[in-house]
Amino acid sequence: MNGTVNGQPLLSVTDLRVGFATQRGLVRAVDGVSFDLFAGKTLGIVGESGSGKSVTAKTLMNLLPSYARVEGSVMFDGRDVRELAAQKEKHFWGVEMTMIFQDPMTSLNPVKKVGEQIAESLRVHLGRSRKEARDEAGDLLETVGIPEARKRLSQYPHELSGGLRQRVVIAMALACSPRLLIADEPTTALDVTVQKHILDLLDELREERGMAMILITHDLGVVKGRTDDIMVMYAGRTMEQADTATLFSTMRHPYTEALLETIPRIDMPSHTRLVPIPGRPPDLIDIAPGCPFAPRCRYSVDACVVECPSLEGHGTAHVCACHKPVGTEAGIAARAANEQQGTTPTGLDMGLFEGAGSRSGTGAGN
Ligand SMILES: Nc1ncnc2c1ncn2[C@@H]1O[C@H](COP(=O)(O)OP(=O)(O)OP(=O)(O)O)[C@@H](O)[C@H]1O
Ligand SMILES: [Mg+2]
Repeated sequence: MNGTVNGQPLLSVTDLRVGFATQRGLVRAVDGVSFDLFAGKTLGIVGESGSGKSVTAKTLMNLLPSYARVEGSVMFDGRDVRELAAQKEKHFWGVEMTMIFQDPMTSLNPVKKVGEQIAESLRVHLGRSRKEARDEAGDLLETVGIPEARKRLSQYPHELSGGLRQRVVIAMALACSPRLLIADEPTTALDVTVQKHILDLLDELREERGMAMILITHDLGVVKGRTDDIMVMYAGRTMEQADTATLFSTMRHPYTEALLETIPRIDMPSHTRLVPIPGRPPDLIDIAPGCPFAPRCRYSVDACVVECPSLEGHGTAHVCACHKPVGTEAGIAARAANEQQGTTPTGLDMGLFEGAGSRSGTGAGN
């Protein structure tokens, strides 16, 4: 399939904002996120827990609770997704756009045979007969690599291993040949070898079907080499966005760099310490005026505490929201000054990073 729909992105998200009115105040879960995704392409959304990844996905899937306040635009192939939601369009979600969740049991009904669950979607959305739907369900289980697929149709979810259950969920998501599949931490609940098989399977199926995919993860290692583009989120905002190769070779945001230091690399000398990012993400109710990452950032300067940086271009389709970007003269100087001081303007102890692999030059990574 060609990468565009009439030259337009398949999905175009512009300045998306999602707030939840709670007793404590408004939780700004997503705060001005924009991206385009073309047909057949993959976007990775990466960030720590609470950064707004799932809320972004649930907004696209129309799965937010009624008290959520949504602003901004979401266009899918020229149609306004929020209008489709208002019109209660039934054959859009689960058909053109589908989602896989972290825990397969969220999507599976424990008291229904897996064959029936897949067939149901085919009957409801595509009007298949019982027999047709059952046959197709068997084919789908084969497609997702489930051994003895036909026999599994009459099994219950609890009779399958975690990896097989997630394959069933993928089969369900693919049943109506979606044009966009959102996979929200699809492998986090699985062990490492199964994780790789499932990610490879998703890749293959996406390629075969010309489907677009959003792969959500807290682990940069998962998206490395798998997605076309990556958006790094923090505190509901986009910190950095670039094509995957650029993001790994010339990342500009200190948060991206810090995330990368939390995963092991093959080319790391064996003594390199993996450094957890010190501190915690901010409260999304009382958001301070500066950069939300400033209190945890090795590069921070006084300006970061008072002024939130806007997303700025660093070469083709590479944007980053930072006053002192990694690998730039300003960034190198800011970090060096903090190292010399032993602390940052926000009081972060620079000693916490001693022995960590530095990527402040460009061209590292991969
Ligand atoms: N229904 C809700 N009501 C109030 N706050 C919510 C609701 N759903 C999410 N939030 C808040 O929105 C923020 C973003 O949550 P989200 O689930 O998108 O994070 P995430 O990036 O998916 O994290 P994780 O990696 O843990 O899945 C969090 O602070 C969360 O507590
Ligand atoms: Mg989530």
